Amino acid sequence: MKKIAVFTSGGDSPGMNACIRAVVRTANFNNIKVVGIMNGYKGMIDGEFVNLTTESVANIIQRGGTILKTSRCEEFKTVDGRKTAYENLKKNQIEGLICIGGDGTYTGAEIFYNEFEIPSIGIPGTIDNDLYGTDHTIGYDTALNTAMDAIDKIRDTADSHNRIFIVEVMGRSAGFIALAVGIAGGAESIIIPEDTEDEIRLFENFRNTNRRKKSFSIIVVAEGEKGGSTYIYNKLKKEFPQLDIRTTVLGHIQRGGNPSARDRILATRLGVSSVERLLEGGKNECAGMINNKVCFTSYHDAIKTKKQLPTYIYSLINILSS
Ligand code: F6P
Repeated sequence: MKKIAVFTSGGDSPGMNACIRAVVRTANFNNIKVVGIMNGYKGMIDGEFVNLTTESVANIIQRGGTILKTSRCEEFKTVDGRKTAYENLKKNQIEGLICIGGDGTYTGAEIFYNEFEIPSIGIPGTIDNDLYGTDHTIGYDTALNTAMDAIDKIRDTADSHNRIFIVEVMGRSAGFIALAVGIAGGAESIIIPEDTEDEIRLFENFRNTNRRKKSFSIIVVAEGEKGGSTYIYNKLKKEFPQLDIRTTVLGHIQRGGNPSARDRILATRLGVSSVERLLEGGKNECAGMINNKVCFTSYHDAIKTKKQLPTYIYSLINILSS
């Protein structure tokens, strides 16, 4: 292999730049040239390629977002789009791919490998942490800390005004952020799409006249929960009109900012190992870190297997909020 390409795709996540830097420097260390594909799969179709050198990835390890930009690309879902992308890679003598992103990125990469057999390795970059084959995804830790800081600030107002605050955090169809930040932020309840009983428990708590009198409460709701925070707000307000309730949707602030040390280290280790794997003949698989060891899982398994929530940690909320 003489030349590989790297790109970021799907939602940006803090640590993607640290990962790009590790990929480029590991390839260069092994005398392999690296091309950066701008704007994810869209740039692969449009032929937006830039040469990346050790110098061009200097001073990016600390930056959020992605210097290669990113997109969610509908055209890559078509056979014609992928054929154009393949022709562009061939024209540029690209022999391997490093694909940084979430499940949509992996799905595209698997289909592309099956059609054109260009070896590719995926790296989990998403704040949602919803990818099988790794304990944590790149960006998850930073997003947690951002959301936790926001909740700490909201607590001040909740406490001063004796209010209930419903805080909606990201997680398209998964409650990983909500669960972790709910525990770290001292929430009274956590509402996630994986649990169908949590809403019932929330209302039972408020109905229970023997419960400890609290002057204020934080309820963390995952974005992926049916109806989100607005639905919970309306239902609570209807049954308990006397409560002073406010809703805060944290939104995209969770995706930005400088990556935490944990995310930079994860991104760096996965970036280095993925290039090494590609050079050893790896293909059609993605990197992850389980119990502090780098491992690889086929795209197929990573896409098809649902990552389980840490149920023990989830069970703690009932003890801690009692
Ligand atoms: O996948 C990461 C994520 O931030 C999800 O939590 C969220 O549902 C989605 O992306 C938002 O995507 P967009 O920025 O395209 O609106």
